[in-house]
Amino acid sequence: MDLKFERARAPLRGTLEMPGDKSLAHRAALFAALAGGESAIARFPDSGVTRAMRNALAALGVPSSLDDGTLRLSGTAGRPFPAAGATAFCGNSGTTMRMLAGALAMTGTGARMDGSAGLRRRPMERIAAPLREMGAEISTAPGGTAPIDVAARPDGRPLSPFDGSIPVASAQVKSCIALAALGASGPSTIREPGPSRDHTERMLRHMGACVRAAPEAGPHAIRVEPLERPLAPLRISLPGDISSAAFALAAAAIVPGSEVAVRGVCLNPGRTGILDCLSAMGAEVAVSGVRDCAGEPVGDVLLRARPLKAIDVSGGMVVRAIDEFPAIAAVAAFAEGVTTVRDAAELRGKESDRIAAIVRNLRALGAEAEESPDGFSVRGGTLRGGVAEAGGDHRLAMSMAVAGLAAPEGVTVRNAEILSESYPSFAADIRSLAVR
Ligand code: S3P
Repeated sequence: MDLKFERARAPLRGTLEMPGDKSLAHRAALFAALAGGESAIARFPDSGVTRAMRNALAALGVPSSLDDGTLRLSGTAGRPFPAAGATAFCGNSGTTMRMLAGALAMTGTGARMDGSAGLRRRPMERIAAPLREMGAEISTAPGGTAPIDVAARPDGRPLSPFDGSIPVASAQVKSCIALAALGASGPSTIREPGPSRDHTERMLRHMGACVRAAPEAGPHAIRVEPLERPLAPLRISLPGDISSAAFALAAAAIVPGSEVAVRGVCLNPGRTGILDCLSAMGAEVAVSGVRDCAGEPVGDVLLRARPLKAIDVSGGMVVRAIDEFPAIAAVAAFAEGVTTVRDAAELRGKESDRIAAIVRNLRALGAEAEESPDGFSVRGGTLRGGVAEAGGDHRLAMSMAVAGLAAPEGVTVRNAEILSESYPSFAADIRSLAVR
């Protein structure tokens, strides 16, 4: 499918509600599968990556139903998944594969995990190595990639506690090890080189687990106690996804005179880097109505377009905006000066090599953009428009389409159907903001 966005002739106006947050949805479905009893999760998003988690759980014998946006499933109370020995196909979803590995290790379930050709290229030793340290038998394909085989622990022997560091600041890796730690013989300490989103810690606490920050063990360490009783089932409604909102906010930022609000999005501080970047670029960003939703801050965001200037993004900001660089690149293409991103080599291991893909697409649209080993730069005001290629990456598809709203020649995105992996109503939502 080709998706074409023409240059907007008038400011964008309106208020949007985003689909439920993907990161929370993955966790909610998986943790509910480990809980004792039936969970009901409202506003559960129905997209490619969340279907990957549901399908993987169903293959392991934990089916779920999704009616009127509410996901229901019955957990195994921490016992091995019923269809042990199955292959759980994780589609394109790295979050599914990495967190599921932790759940298999925790419950002692033997299974194979596999995924799409894209997922088979992504690094998996980062979870396998620490799980092995805990005594799990786990093997990856040559190159440290999927398929991954986890062996059953039929004797019910617990894992050894983890006391060490994980190689990258990654919520997926931290979550995998934290889940395994729930099934260990004593408390675990997990140290990260930098801070990452803490959805897992918050949700596990909400379900009765003992998981806390451990400043005594390091600046980015957590301590996880083994479960004494099964996790309590979930009865929650998921807040909106700030990673989807990023595209609506980016669109509003680059179309002069725009004023766009997104209501009820998750504002976990590990995810709000996009708001800080947009505001550092000059957009007026106001957050209001912040409330608590099952341990997560949730609120409304209003963005008013203002003249944009380039920024430098590096260090701790990178992980807080890790999924938002395609959107940031689209905004940078219309900001005055050269925006530079550094310390972001992790972007090369996402749904695509996002550094290469962002630069290739910006150049195809006429913009001056350069790659570096750990980032990229883009000179604002040089993007004319033309044809971009999604290349199997949902966020690339949406960011390049958004760029079309301010590009003199508009932008056509080839193979844009991939965007339904995460935000199926993207095009309709953005078009609804056009002032009629
Ligand atoms: C996610 C964490 C991030 C992010 C991914 C979702 C999560 O990955 O890129 O889209 O839900 O924990 P890393 O933690 O590996 O950086």
